[in-house]
Amino acid sequence: MKVDGVHYQTVWMEGTTVFFIEQNLLPFQFKIGEAATCADSCHAIRTMMVRGAGAIGAIAGFAMAQAAHEAPVSGYHAALETARLRIGSTRPTARNLFHAVEKVHAAALGSPAEASEEALRLAAKDASDSLSIGEFGNALVCDGMNIETHCNAGWLAFVDYGTALAPIYLAHSRGKKVFVYADETRPRSQGARLTAWELRQAGVPHTILPDNAGAYLMSLGKIDLMIVGADRVAANGDVANKIGTLEKAIAAKEYGIPFYVAAPTSTFDRDCPDGKHIPIEERDADEVLYQEGPTRDGRMERILVCSPGSSAFNPAFDVTPAKFITGIITEKGIISPDRPSIRQLLNQNP
Ligand code: MRU
Repeated sequence: MKVDGVHYQTVWMEGTTVFFIEQNLLPFQFKIGEAATCADSCHAIRTMMVRGAGAIGAIAGFAMAQAAHEAPVSGYHAALETARLRIGSTRPTARNLFHAVEKVHAAALGSPAEASEEALRLAAKDASDSLSIGEFGNALVCDGMNIETHCNAGWLAFVDYGTALAPIYLAHSRGKKVFVYADETRPRSQGARLTAWELRQAGVPHTILPDNAGAYLMSLGKIDLMIVGADRVAANGDVANKIGTLEKAIAAKEYGIPFYVAAPTSTFDRDCPDGKHIPIEERDADEVLYQEGPTRDGRMERILVCSPGSSAFNPAFDVTPAKFITGIITEKGIISPDRPSIRQLLNQNP
């Protein structure tokens, strides 16, 4: 996608160095970060400099390739195994991370060069899958629609194009009038900071919606369609996505609003029987207690926004049961969120 007219991907690798858009600084500062080693890439994932299911999948694959290049000839396999566990411990919920690590680890057993090749292939596939999701999803978007989305599942969350936002970008570029309500998505405000910034870059009309305003807007008949992303899809169609998704899905069902999830097959976990088995990341309470933003002179400042001394519970994701989901938009088509459809999808050739 373009930033001020220049095309960028969210994360890429040149030689054995990984480059990425530093997402924690957006929308106030646009900066490219660098991760020269596997340890640096793990740090970028853990601290959410790179975040979003597809983007962390891509950098996790690159990290595995970096580990293969760093590994000594004697003890090569042991070093690969240590790296596999290390990368896998950075963030638990997004399936894409484990999908990439497993695939690049298998390639690394051949040679470091094969690991790099596989990591680059997976990153390129993440971008092309997003494009296909955009095409299939575009069929659901009618001229004049008001669409709500939660968190950021745009191009910043993937290597390019995004998932939930890809149909919107495509519809907009093909002349359909669409208006987007971007949920702010507390506590890290990926919607208010990242989705809103992306939509503005692309010239898509939008507004930021407080997290607790979605049901009200739906009750007024102001939302025609809801599209969200996913961090993991279980084998029965239950979906883990950013915290707050479940409430929107329940409200959408109540008001008869189609609720779609957009996700590539790399987000599906055939070994996870249902949503109860999806590991949900719990993050630091400080993300709830404090907010960060620029001062008038442009310095980033963190301020306490809650009652001093109170604690906070901070689950990063929730699970939406399949019964609340109208369909899942994948790179191979739109499917029903049920076991037979998911089995059929995952058994198709790539
Ligand atoms: O915690 P994050 O910012 O890495 O969250 C992941 C997500 O981007 C969202 O849950 C998104 O809606 C899923 S699609 C990338």
